[in-house]
Amino acid sequence: MTNRVAGKKAFITGAAQGLGAAMAKALASEGAKVALADVNFAGAAKLAEELNSAHGAGTAHAFELDVTDEGQWIAALEAANAAMGGVSALINNAGIAGGKGGIEEMSLADFKRVMSVNVDSVFLGAKHAIKYLAQNQPGSIVNISSIAGLIASHNTPAYNASKAAVWLLSKNVALYCAKKGLDIRSNSIHPTFIDTPILDPLRGMLGKQEAEAKLARQVPLGRIGKPEEIGMAAVYLVSDESRFMTGAELKLDGGISAM
Ligand SMILES: NC(=O)c1ccc[n+]([C@@H]2O[C@H](COP(=O)([O-])OP(=O)(O)OC[C@H]3O[C@@H](n4cnc5c(N)ncnc54)[C@H](O)[C@@H]3O)[C@@H](O)[C@H]2O)c1
Repeated sequence: MTNRVAGKKAFITGAAQGLGAAMAKALASEGAKVALADVNFAGAAKLAEELNSAHGAGTAHAFELDVTDEGQWIAALEAANAAMGGVSALINNAGIAGGKGGIEEMSLADFKRVMSVNVDSVFLGAKHAIKYLAQNQPGSIVNISSIAGLIASHNTPAYNASKAAVWLLSKNVALYCAKKGLDIRSNSIHPTFIDTPILDPLRGMLGKQEAEAKLARQVPLGRIGKPEEIGMAAVYLVSDESRFMTGAELKLDGGISAM
């Protein structure tokens, strides 16, 4: 541990498992306090307990939050601000894949659900967290988009559209904060396939080994990513090491977008 984010207080959505949990672990082990927000409160509470026994009481707090619900955002941010003594970083990570199917097969209800969880969340998070980040400058907003927000496929219309929206909304927020004279950065991370439960439907269809091999064949580095690799990117963006970086995108895609 080198305390790269000592004194930082990060609010992380979708933190009960997968990338959110990995980012929380990486930030806590580098000295940050973390607020773990998820619809899966039991999962977030379990991780909070784990982090508190590893890094000391008060390192982590769990909050129940459905990221599509504005009232819950307001309440969770207020509670996290009180529990941590401030909020200096927001990580908008909660998201859903929303199933596959071409544009003719996808229902409007399914499309709207993905847009709501993946995009309304980022809108509401920034809208209501900026006032706390402003009290704890320098602040940082980190939005987890996807390489699928920059490169489309034939069968994920809602996921592609939602993650592209997250990409540009991040830049909008960056410019908004800069224009207001706030030292609050806003950047997006664009991972390719990472080893989390979000890949379980594909593993269920093809079997774990074949599913992961199929995905790995699409990646120049020849493998899917590890959650810790996204965790380290979050440490960089939350830390003051990225002080001059805003409105930017960090592609963690094993080389896919270089092709
Ligand atoms: N794993 C990948 O391959 C990959 C690649 C690119 C981008 N991403 C993005 O990274 C983010 C995290 O993905 P993951 O792989 O960890 O997924 P995951 O399914 O393992 O975890 C998602 C977490 O978000 C929570 N969540 C879902 N809906 C929510 C809601 N409405 N309100 C609050 N919490 C909610 C879940 O309870 C869960 O804890 C997502 O935005 C995803 O699109 C993942």
